[in-house]
Amino acid sequence: MTGETAHGLRGDYAGMRPDYTVDQDWAAYTPAEHALWRRLYERQAVLLPRYACREFIDSLAALDFSAGIPRFDAVNPKLARATRWRIVAVPGLLPDRVFFEHLANRRFPVTVWLRTPEEFDYIVEPDVFHDFFGHVPLLFDPVFADFLEAYGQGGLKADALGAIEMLARLYWYTVEFGLIATPGGLRTYGAGILSSGGELPYSIESAAPHRIGFDLLRIMRTRYKIDTFQETYFVIRDFRELFEATAPDFTPHYAALAGLEPLPARAVLPADIAIGAIVDEG
Ligand code: PHE
Ligand code: CO
Repeated sequence: MTGETAHGLRGDYAGMRPDYTVDQDWAAYTPAEHALWRRLYERQAVLLPRYACREFIDSLAALDFSAGIPRFDAVNPKLARATRWRIVAVPGLLPDRVFFEHLANRRFPVTVWLRTPEEFDYIVEPDVFHDFFGHVPLLFDPVFADFLEAYGQGGLKADALGAIEMLARLYWYTVEFGLIATPGGLRTYGAGILSSGGELPYSIESAAPHRIGFDLLRIMRTRYKIDTFQETYFVIRDFRELFEATAPDFTPHYAALAGLEPLPARAVLPADIAIGAIVDEG
């Protein structure tokens, strides 16, 4: 997540290093926390075959984090072999620059704390379940992994150009809430959906939200809501499309967008390409 600062946030920012990393202190997780992780994991696991993209399902199956909160150190050698990424432990949300700096260097920040049982269905700030379960599997995909590094570099550049808000929308509508059209129907690759019990079926099957073909400038103009299911989803064909569409220099895009009003989350434009909602039965 991005577009936020580290003020007034949950999480212990006292003992961190200058780059905001901490030690995970895996031994400090309680049996109740591991049990809560298992419940969260099991709820998502039954939904994945129908709603998650193939890359996420395959990667998760190869890793198997079902037993409890994972040790970050145990996944890092595998991740290094697969895509040269690694995860680093952090207290919670990071200032934009710190976040971009990690991504640009192929380090994915993962929050160390787990939500409370009362937050089983809904949590505002990302916790270890969202960050790890939702994001880590796709770091194993080579194309997605390269996209995320490029995003981090683009973030540092956007910061210098005063365009972080536009780039944050791109992250939101792809990395967090992106859909992908596959031969087996519509699926999701967005971590905010993949770690949510409610939004996983909703994003694919509900008739309520709009589903629109990926359009870089349209996305960077569109506001988003952080406290409801999304009103609009953008659909890619594959990670290659995402990588290639975002490779060109954004400097002229930022200049063009600076003169336009942002669109509300629910906007519909004549040029929008509507994508069919319902996956095949069976
Ligand atoms: N191409 C973008 C730029 O020039 C960088 C970027 C890459 C941004 C991938 C987002 C995703 O700013
Ligand atoms: Co996230």
